[in-house]
Amino acid sequence: MVKSPENLRHDGLRSWVADMVDLCTPDAVHWCDGSDDEYDLLTHELVNAGTFIRLNHELRPDSFLARSDPSDVARVEDRTFICSRTKQLAGPTNNWMDPAEMKGKLGELFDGCMQGRTMYVIPFSMGPIGSPIAQIGVEITDSAYVAVNMKIMTRMGAAVLDALGADGAFVPCMHTVGAPLGPGDVDVQWPCNPDVKYIVHFPEERSIWSYGSGYGGNALLGKKCLALRIASTMGRDEGWLAEHMLIMGVTDPGGEKTYLGAAFPSACGKTNFAMIEPPAAFADEGWKVTTVGDDIAWIKPAADGSLYAINPEAGYFGVAPGTSMSTNPSAMASIRANTIFTNVALTDDGDVWWEGLDGDTPDHLIDWKGEDWTPDADRKAAHPNARFTAPAHQNPVIDDKWDDPAGVPISAFIFGGRRSGTMPLVHQSFNWAHGVYLAATMGSETTAAAFGEQGVVRRDPFAMLPFAGYHMADYFNHWLSFGRNIANPPRIFGVNWFRTDEDGKFVWPGFGENMRVLEWIVNRARGRSYGLESPIGWMPRHSDLNWDGLEDFAEADFLQAMSLDRSDWDREILSHDELFIRLNDRIPKEMLAIKDLTLSALWRSPEHWEMNPDPT
Ligand code: OXD
Ligand code: MN
Repeated sequence: MVKSPENLRHDGLRSWVADMVDLCTPDAVHWCDGSDDEYDLLTHELVNAGTFIRLNHELRPDSFLARSDPSDVARVEDRTFICSRTKQLAGPTNNWMDPAEMKGKLGELFDGCMQGRTMYVIPFSMGPIGSPIAQIGVEITDSAYVAVNMKIMTRMGAAVLDALGADGAFVPCMHTVGAPLGPGDVDVQWPCNPDVKYIVHFPEERSIWSYGSGYGGNALLGKKCLALRIASTMGRDEGWLAEHMLIMGVTDPGGEKTYLGAAFPSACGKTNFAMIEPPAAFADEGWKVTTVGDDIAWIKPAADGSLYAINPEAGYFGVAPGTSMSTNPSAMASIRANTIFTNVALTDDGDVWWEGLDGDTPDHLIDWKGEDWTPDADRKAAHPNARFTAPAHQNPVIDDKWDDPAGVPISAFIFGGRRSGTMPLVHQSFNWAHGVYLAATMGSETTAAAFGEQGVVRRDPFAMLPFAGYHMADYFNHWLSFGRNIANPPRIFGVNWFRTDEDGKFVWPGFGENMRVLEWIVNRARGRSYGLESPIGWMPRHSDLNWDGLEDFAEADFLQAMSLDRSDWDREILSHDELFIRLNDRIPKEMLAIKDLTLSALWRSPEHWEMNPDPT
């Protein structure tokens, strides 16, 4: 008999947990209340179990380092399934298995899977508790690492049970590391199942089952599984959007704030952009950027016809390598304390280190695998996908409305990928449907482009390729019909910070300088800056951007970053066609029409299209 919390009034939840106890046969059951005392207890237990190393309290207060099994370091897209009723509903970009067959398999895998372990029951809210945009989930897991990460990443515990009441809806999220312990078995530092992993979604019944991994999005089921894959299907059915987007507020010198959502594929610096530090000249003028979220946005139309967005998360699960005082000072401040680090290196004085951190490389470290490391080692000290889990409220540039249950009004969407060529620094779509085309066809290069060559472009529509819970073409349709029903749809922009020159060098300085592009976007969204019509959308002239403090960036370089080459675009459009052919059974006719219009606009223009330099 499991002792339930006193404020549990939900019979459905009570009986689901009882069924899962019968199935998984844990040694003990712990209902998480989300308190600080509980966090202290669980982190203490994780230290005793060898999963956590407590970092030096002077240097990194109340923070921990975990090292995963070397086989369990990232999301496993090839083991991720959308088990909708039919394969066609999941579409060609998702793995699918018949739901009954998958349930049979999961039933066998979960049978006795928590033997020798504690089952944690984690009620959590994605979004401020009680927000009309929020959703409740309950994760059952046998990983204390997951429980403490969920405390940072979500609103978790007793208050969620109160909000759930006797008959509220919740998404059941089952998770196990898939490593039962028999009598006398000694546990390992990072239990997982190195051979069998399944990350499974049942979109119609809105449930999640995850087996075999303890890492990130495979295990913290509120994030990619609930807040994107399941929520995207909820959004389709209920008329809202669940997007792989950061949300930022941009305050202009007049004190007016504009909120934007921006989607980038993984590994394009999304957290950096969400916390961008404006260049001094902009800050002096009064420009300010604040963060609502760094990864996910849930967006609903309000009665007044505008769109309101929340960040469903409460923390940052950011990539550590490359994060530094020069690339992202606000992220560095966010992780100064109360942070869980996974797979970074450990310094001799008990702090953390990773490639790209400021200062000199230490003479000696313990690397992410727990081995001695010196700078002459020919391997990285931190895993490239090493992470920090940090509370959002520690971000010094957190937006004052980041926790507002009503959300923030969205005026523009930005879509960007990593492209060494073809895509200009910035352009604005002609209208909503054209913006959906821009987002649907976005792509990112999978390999670093060297010496002017372009890498392999992976189409990643809306940066949602691994995260859409249904057929990608239906997803485009949902966006199109969504836009038809809003009075004043946000403006849609494309950006590319990663264009390179003939020598393979980035043309655009990036990071804080992206503020110059952001200013143009904000002004365009408010209908107050100039745009020149190009074959693919509206673009700023050199004189439309503010160059204060970056006067030595040559106008010719700007023109290069904005130019369009027909041979590149012929190839680009062919590759859009490849995507559309894959999605042929459901592709909206608008996509094909816009593709033809774009092609004819490109063919009406010079082979090398460049904006006229500004008259001097
Ligand atoms: C993430 C991702 O971790 O997109 O946010 O992979
Ligand atoms: Mn992400």
